[in-house]
Formats: sequence, C-alpha cells, structure tokens
Amino acid sequence: MTQVAAWGEKNPFGRSILNPLVIPFGKGITGTVAQEREPAIIDDLLKDQNYIPDTEPARSEICVPLVLDNRVLGVIDSEHPAIGAFGPADLETLTTVAAMTSAKLALLEEAERSSRRYNDLLKTHAELSAEKDSRRALETRLFEARRLESIGRLTGKFAHDFNNLLTVVCGNLELLEGEISSPDAQAFLQDGKEAAVRGTKLIHDMLAFSRKARHVPDLIDLNKVVADICQKDDRGFGPIVEVSLASQLWSIRLDRSATDNALRNLMTNARDAGTATGRILISTGNVRLSRSNMPPLTNELEPGNYVRLRVQDFGSGISDTDVYRIFDPFFTTKPVGSGSGLGLSMVLGFVQQSGGAVGVTTCIGQGSTFDLYFPATTADGNNSLTKRP
Ligand SMILES: Nc1ncnc2c1ncn2[C@@H]1O[C@H](COP(=O)(O)OP(=O)(O)OP(=O)(O)O)[C@@H](O)[C@H]1O
Ligand SMILES: [Mg+2]
Repeated sequence: MTQVAAWGEKNPFGRSILNPLVIPFGKGITGTVAQEREPAIIDDLLKDQNYIPDTEPARSEICVPLVLDNRVLGVIDSEHPAIGAFGPADLETLTTVAAMTSAKLALLEEAERSSRRYNDLLKTHAELSAEKDSRRALETRLFEARRLESIGRLTGKFAHDFNNLLTVVCGNLELLEGEISSPDAQAFLQDGKEAAVRGTKLIHDMLAFSRKARHVPDLIDLNKVVADICQKDDRGFGPIVEVSLASQLWSIRLDRSATDNALRNLMTNARDAGTATGRILISTGNVRLSRSNMPPLTNELEPGNYVRLRVQDFGSGISDTDVYRIFDPFFTTKPVGSGSGLGLSMVLGFVQQSGGAVGVTTCIGQGSTFDLYFPATTADGNNSLTKRP
C-alpha cells in the first residue's frame, strides 16, 4: 500500500506528498485495517507493536477502510500527538468521508471507463470509414475497368469491320492511280488516299484500344526507345523534354512501333497541356510491385517486376470528372480538328495487350504524370513475374 495523499507537513505544496510511505498489505495499522476491512482507533500508539511511524510524532490514530463494490481501495487515517485523541464522533466523521471518497472514486473509475469506450468507438468508426472509402475506390476502379472493357468490345467489332472496308478502299485507290492520267483526277485521288490513310490510322488506334492490334513483340530496351525518339524528335518537342534513364533497366517484350506510338502520344498530350515554357520529364525505372506498394492503376496487376515508363508534365492537370474519361475513345477537350481523342485509348489498349497497366496522377494547375508499367522479362526471355515476388 502506497501513501497517495496527505495533509500536513508531508504535503507542504498541496500537490504531491513527500517521501510516501509504503506499507505491506496486512502489516502496520493501516495494512491491517485494509486487510480486515474494519475501522480501528488506537489510543496509544507506543503500546501497539503494529505501529509503523510516519514523519510527524503521533500517539493516537484512527483508520477507516475505503471499500468499493466489495473491493478494498485503500484506507484513510489520521494521527494525533496526544494519547486517546479520537472517539466515536471522529469515527463517524471519517467513515462518512471514506464513503464519500469511495463514491467519488467509483465515479472517476466510471468516467475513465466511458472515456476509454468512447476512444475505442472513435477508433472503430475511423477504421470503418477508411474501409468504406477504400471499398468505394475499389468499386469505382472496377466499374471503370468494366466500362472500358465493354466500350473496347464495341469499338473492336466496329474497327475490325471498318478496317476491312478501308483496306478495300486503299487497294482500289492504288489500282486507280495507274489508270488515270489527268492531273486533276490525280489530285482528287491523292486527297482520297490521304483521307483513307488518316482513316486507317484512326482505325488502328481503335483496334489498339480494343486490344486487337496486330503486335509483333520483341525484346526491347526501353531506354533505347526513349533515346531514339528524343533524338529523332520528329514532332519538334525540342529542349522542353528532359530525360532520366535508369541504369540496368530490365528488358521487356513489346511491339516496337506501338511503343514508339504510345510514347509520342503521351509526349504530345504533355506538350498540349503545358505552358510555352512547360517541361516534360521522361524517365524509366525498374519497379518491384507488391500488394503493399501497388499504386492505383487502370487494371489490376500481379505483384512482380515491372519496367515503368513515366511521362510527367507541369501543365493544366486534369479535372476530377475528366480523369475518368480520358481513356474513352473519342474523348477530347481539344478544339475540333486538333485531337481525335484516341491517343490515350491507344496507349491503354497497347499497355494492357502487353500485360501491363497505366497509372495517372494529376492535379489541376500543377500537371499530370502518366506511368506505364510493363512486365519485366529476364535476359533469357522468361517472364520474371512469378519468379521474383
Ligand atoms: N498530360 C495531360 N494533361 C492534361 N490533360 C490531358 C493530358 N493527357 C490527356 N489529357 C486529356 O485527355 C484527353 C484525351 O487525350 P487523348 O490523347 O486520348 O486525346 P487527344 O489528345 O485529345 O487527341 P489525340 O491524342 O487523338 O490527338 C485530352 O483531350 C485532354 O483533355
Ligand atoms: Mg493525345
């Protein structure tokens, strides 16, 4: 039993007591009162062999147990320098004080219990809300994936038939070319051919979106793809492009011309989104994706090794409503004639057809980052997905 409160010379500052006594349960007068749960008045302490003296000289003592719900919480006692200082009236007073103290302690205990319960409830509520939010985010992503899947199926059917028609149109225009000599007719024919070629490109982007493009995958070094495109710079990006290539990049198996196309599409979008001085950062990297570090992606990926191609700009950013539609075929915010809205559709279809996924992070006024993840392939050509978790 430890002395926790005192009045008198042991508590000169009215806050905490000095040198608190420690008395074994069942020992001394206070220990015995606690054990037996019976109050005691000792008229002459010198004659009591149980007495354990405190700092102030005392000759008589009164001690009452504090009992709550049949549990002994402690004792209250009072000492006096004179012999026989305490009588039945003091016993009654101290018993009343003990009862009031016990009741107060019960209230404090209950307050503590209910505050603990309240904190537990708050924690549970926060956990539930987080769970609800993450379930909602998952549902949204699932819905998006299904929506794109069904648009893809529709687009694929349409693009496939149209591709066949365009092949016939192009073939016949070429046959006609040898048949006509009039310059005017040749000019009409050229216009017709150019339109058919543009149409073919659109159809190929649509086929790519619906993952029906004809790919010839080959082991490629993505660093080389990026370096070649930046060097060739056939779309005139110039010095706004900064490149950071990872060393010892894992190789990947991709269709080279589709990879070029996808990168050009992302760079064009980045440039269109930027200010005149806007920079475009292109980087490559090896990424080990696990369940715990999986970023939000257009579609689920198995944990494993991936090569990431990142195109980042510091332009307009994409609004919350638009970001759900940017991969839709024909979704464009560009003026009529400037964009067909197939660039990102092609990118997504190509990446998915290659076993990867796309991650987009964007902030209005600050820019956007497009991450393409491709499954890494080891040097001997085996996919490393299941080998290195
Ligand atoms: N980096 C970006 N920053 C801001 N908005 C973007 C970015 N990339 C794409 N977008 C938005 O997504 C839309 C669709 O992009 P997408 O590349 O599919 O089509 P497009 O660029 O409009 O036309 P296309 O690429 O066919 O010429 C864009 O019109 C634009 O609103
Ligand atoms: Mg585009």
